[in-house]
Amino acid sequence: ETAGLFVSGGTMANTAALRMALSRTATWDLPGEGLQSPERPRQLTIYMADHEWHVSFTKAVDLLGLGRNTIRLVPSRADFTIDPVALDAMLDADIAAGMTPFAIVGHAGSINVGAIDDLDALAGVAERRGLWLHVDGACGALGAMLPELRHRYRGMERADSVSFDAHKWMGVPYECGVLLSRDPAMMRRAFGVTASYLHEQPDAELERYDFFDRGPQMSRGFRALKVWMSLRHHGAEGYRGFFRQTIDCARHLHALVEAAPDFEVVQPEPALYIYAFRYNPGGLDDAALDALNTRIAEAIRMRGVALVMTTRVRGRVCQRFSIANHRTTRADVTAVLEAMREMAT
Ligand SMILES: Cc1ncc(COP(=O)(O)O)c(C=O)c1O
Repeated sequence: ETAGLFVSGGTMANTAALRMALSRTATWDLPGEGLQSPERPRQLTIYMADHEWHVSFTKAVDLLGLGRNTIRLVPSRADFTIDPVALDAMLDADIAAGMTPFAIVGHAGSINVGAIDDLDALAGVAERRGLWLHVDGACGALGAMLPELRHRYRGMERADSVSFDAHKWMGVPYECGVLLSRDPAMMRRAFGVTASYLHEQPDAELERYDFFDRGPQMSRGFRALKVWMSLRHHGAEGYRGFFRQTIDCARHLHALVEAAPDFEVVQPEPALYIYAFRYNPGGLDDAALDALNTRIAEAIRMRGVALVMTTRVRGRVCQRFSIANHRTTRADVTAVLEAMREMAT
């Protein structure tokens, strides 16, 4: 059995997932004593890829009172995925140093380059060591709906929790995050409360609709409605078509960048709809290229051509395309790239 919960977005889903992981790990009275228990281990730790980890985990550990040092960054490989061998070595070293690892985070569609971690390898490490595996699929978990991509997600089904944002790739209006847990009881353990004005006795009928003890919120909006309506309208097959279209646009962009003498490839061919690259006509040092790429993205935005943001990939300012809108076409992508070139000169 799997349980699920609509939340505001990926940040809240990640926070709730870590709270569940903590609940499973705690050998002390977590609901009663929280992190102030004298029996609490000195340093609780979680693990994720050093380049592509998402900053929402900073918020999550802040909210949970764990402290930012909880996050341990594992070296990633050339393709921007976490290195499972380095993860294993880091876990050994950290345990020897007295730390208490409690969760591993894999990303399915990372923020800058859309990388999908080797989730099967992560599940292996997590299972062997009894750690919680959370897959942050805010951007990309839904790619598993595509048969041709499913192999990239192998192992996701072994995760303890998975999150994704319907307000990203599904195009559903904000806010609409989703958290799935393989262990429904853990949701209640992490979030359960009782009060006389709530139903005091278990009531199977009410529990189908009551979610206050499965997540951080009590009163909640009807987020499910917009997902239901969108699914009714487009259907799963409709969404598969949208997803394919956006991935095709990202791959088209990669091909254009590869072929262009004045643009530089900084990542492998995109698996999903997120793609980073930079303008580099040659003859400029890194600082000048960073400034130029920042200026190009600003100009593209200010002139209303497209909403392109910059990010840093391996330290350098890059253009980051997130082609989440299913109405975007190859022609749009080509036009934005051409506009970038114009604005650079
Ligand atoms: C990988 C990843 N995780 C988490 C989040 C946070 O999601 P939200 O903004 O919905 O809270 C994002 C947002 O971009 C993301 O890309």
